Amino acid sequence: PAEKKRGTFTAAIDQGTTSSRFIIFDGTGTPKATHQVEFEQLYPHSGWIEHDPFELLKSVNTCVERAAEQFVGDGYCLEDIKAIGITNQRETTVVWDTVTGQPLYNAIVWADTRTSRLVHELRKKEGSKKLRALCGLPMSTYPSSVKLLWMLRHVPAVAAAHKAGRLSFGTVDTWLIYNLSGGAEKGRYVTDPSNASRTMFCNIETLEYDEYLLDWFGVKGVNLPQIVPSSDPEAYGVIAEGALKGTRIAGCLGDQSAALVGQCAFNPGMAKNTYGTGCFLLYNTGEKPVISDNGLLTTVGYAFKGHKPVYALEGSVAVAGSAVKFLRDNLGIIKHSHEVGELASKVPDSGGVVFVTAFSGLFAPYWIDDAMGTIFGMSQYTTKEHIARATIEAVCFQTRAILDAMEKDSGTTLNALAVDGGMSNSDVCMQIQADILGLEIDRPKMRETTALGAAIAAGFAVGVWRDLNELKGINREDRATFWPKSSEQSREQIYANWEKAVERSKGWLD
Ligand code: G3P
Repeated sequence: PAEKKRGTFTAAIDQGTTSSRFIIFDGTGTPKATHQVEFEQLYPHSGWIEHDPFELLKSVNTCVERAAEQFVGDGYCLEDIKAIGITNQRETTVVWDTVTGQPLYNAIVWADTRTSRLVHELRKKEGSKKLRALCGLPMSTYPSSVKLLWMLRHVPAVAAAHKAGRLSFGTVDTWLIYNLSGGAEKGRYVTDPSNASRTMFCNIETLEYDEYLLDWFGVKGVNLPQIVPSSDPEAYGVIAEGALKGTRIAGCLGDQSAALVGQCAFNPGMAKNTYGTGCFLLYNTGEKPVISDNGLLTTVGYAFKGHKPVYALEGSVAVAGSAVKFLRDNLGIIKHSHEVGELASKVPDSGGVVFVTAFSGLFAPYWIDDAMGTIFGMSQYTTKEHIARATIEAVCFQTRAILDAMEKDSGTTLNALAVDGGMSNSDVCMQIQADILGLEIDRPKMRETTALGAAIAAGFAVGVWRDLNELKGINREDRATFWPKSSEQSREQIYANWEKAVERSKGWLD
């Protein structure tokens, strides 16, 4: 038999909004085995987005089993995987019966806007102005708190479980870890600070649940997962079943925090932008949370055991890859998502078309929940190529609005923006981004930085790496750079059109 390839490996489960992945990395951050599964998006009404919690779990298990087979097939040994990290779509809310472990409703996905009326009501409630300074998040349809509140009001089984003291709340990390480590019988019921900081229940300074916040939302009596460090050898337990039975789960990070770690943005002033289903720009602000005056979120970058937590300012764009999916599935103007860049490159500009892709309202820095997706500036001249280009530009304009806000909050200017995620694979998209920002775009060769960040958190916990400095060389080779080619005048002119269009996309709720 061929000689076994021995080594030290870490792995990551990346449970995103549209697909799940499992990737096994070697010590240099190179993927050695990977498997990805897409799962169903449920849209029961306009603005509603749900996932079946068991389908999420099944997709993860399939990825783990297939990647493990591939790894072994290539001559590696599963026992050389030292630890597993979990990274996940954030805010998405799952509830289940504490005794049986059975979900009580579909997961309500982060981009779901069914809570917009509830949010209007909550904004008027006494004390609402105090929340942001406590938890770092503005009141909007985005965090988990309002999704849980909606379920308590509208789903009788959830209200009954609450009354009976059997209502378990969790974000996707918690749901996965609970099930992977043994479920109702012996599963761990935990979350990490980067995920907890997206709920509105967690105090952004102490990184513990805040009595005032729990009281204000009226969720006392709901069972909440214990908040444990993002990198910890003991807190998460071991995989209970399957090919990796017995392997330690040692890291957990919300996906955007994981990408910050995977890009090795460990120092204050470093930033990354990830183009996934949505698009999320995180800017490392160091060991103190900075509360934004300009529409950004304050979030936890990572909080490793034995180290001070590292915070970030975040600009969240609700719609990025999902707009490309819209062009593919709803309008049918592309067959595959990756074709969007090629289509857009057939025209030199959007021909005056501005597409405000506000399918979930507009998130940072605008926070307009009554904006709807709107296309402006069409004429007989408009073609699908213009629409494709305007779709890409919508994401890039929102990134610019976020960077402007970040500059105001931090008083510093970025020299370059590190990017990753689906849309960053397209050279055309990244050139458009560089032109709209007037800033250098820096793209790594290996763009699974989210999964890499979770693997780093796990590996760090079990001693694969002992110092973050050891990681600084990871994924530095063969990076691509996109330089702005646009003139300042054209840049400012198209951005002014975007701002006008944003103003006009408001006011659709009533
Ligand atoms: O806050 C939502 C975010 O975590 C989802 O990320 O990559 O699935 O769009 P993604």
